[in-house]
Amino acid sequence: MSTLPTTLCGVRLTNPLIAAAGTCGYTGELGDALPLAKLGAVTSKSITLEPRDGNAPWRMVDIPGGMLNAIGLANVGVDRFLAEKLPSAAGMGCPLIGSIAGHSVDDYLSVAAKFDREPSIPIVELNVSCPNTADGLQFGEHPQALRQLLAAVRPALPSTKMLVKLSPNVGDIVAMAKAAIDGGADGLTLINTVSAMAIDVERREPRLSRGTGGLSGTAIHAIAVRMVHQVYRGVARDARIPLVGLGGVMQWQDAAELVLAGATCVGLGTALFVDPRTPLRVAKGLDAWVRRQGATSIGELVGALRT
Ligand SMILES: Cc1cc2nc3c(=O)[nH]c(=O)nc-3n(C[C@H](O)[C@H](O)[C@H](O)COP(=O)(O)O)c2cc1C
Repeated sequence: MSTLPTTLCGVRLTNPLIAAAGTCGYTGELGDALPLAKLGAVTSKSITLEPRDGNAPWRMVDIPGGMLNAIGLANVGVDRFLAEKLPSAAGMGCPLIGSIAGHSVDDYLSVAAKFDREPSIPIVELNVSCPNTADGLQFGEHPQALRQLLAAVRPALPSTKMLVKLSPNVGDIVAMAKAAIDGGADGLTLINTVSAMAIDVERREPRLSRGTGGLSGTAIHAIAVRMVHQVYRGVARDARIPLVGLGGVMQWQDAAELVLAGATCVGLGTALFVDPRTPLRVAKGLDAWVRRQGATSIGELVGALRT
């Protein structure tokens, strides 16, 4: 029997491995590469109220240790998502986490209210790494802005569990986690991409059209481990709030580190671009590791760092 079955916010998962927002399409596209029943859950790309084309190219570039992206939330908008993409999620084989993004409190609120009516979205994840057009500040980089956002959005999700995805681009990640928990988060996902830049030295121009973008992959893994550890010890453990840890998970050892730091579930993003079947290898390695540690369930190792 596998040691990996896990519960996230009351939802049973086959294992703790979750395909990360924006790296696996809208719902079941990853099913072309692996049976989705072998995944804990799939997260949709972030859905906004209106359709968005996203940024001009280049919007993804390879750099040593990872990749930089500035996709700009390209998506079909919530109405087309619900009409054209969501119906196939019911037969996907694993739960869907619906990711929501926006540029105003009302944007988030409108998408949340529509998602809440969908039984095939048991959990939503708020991507708060978006600037509010009202003041230009990112919701996820200011505790007060995050509190205001959640005060509006939480009541619109009476039937749905709410994860808040934290941005690493802050000085005090525990303060942001506390703001999210005060605002009614049922769980926290961390981390989103790290703000970064790459320059083409011949052209003397940024390699991304937008100038800066988000760094993901191996280069950010140790940052993710540090932040999961700090949030777990600083607030989540006592508040009994589960964490989804992600950032640079390419092999089972990376996932095991995040579990020991305090993550109940582990997300994979950039690894899916390298090899979409990575979660299968990671699950196998994790299961063997849990047994070697003398545990019968991976849950026994969540936050079990010896310090
Ligand atoms: C191409 C790309 C697109 C992404 N799009 C989203 C998105 O739509 N919403 C979101 O919350 N995060 C998005 N992310 C961030 C990932 O979900 C994840 O938090 C981040 O990449 C760190 O994990 P990784 O190192 O395993 O990729 C995106 C990442 C990449 C690489």
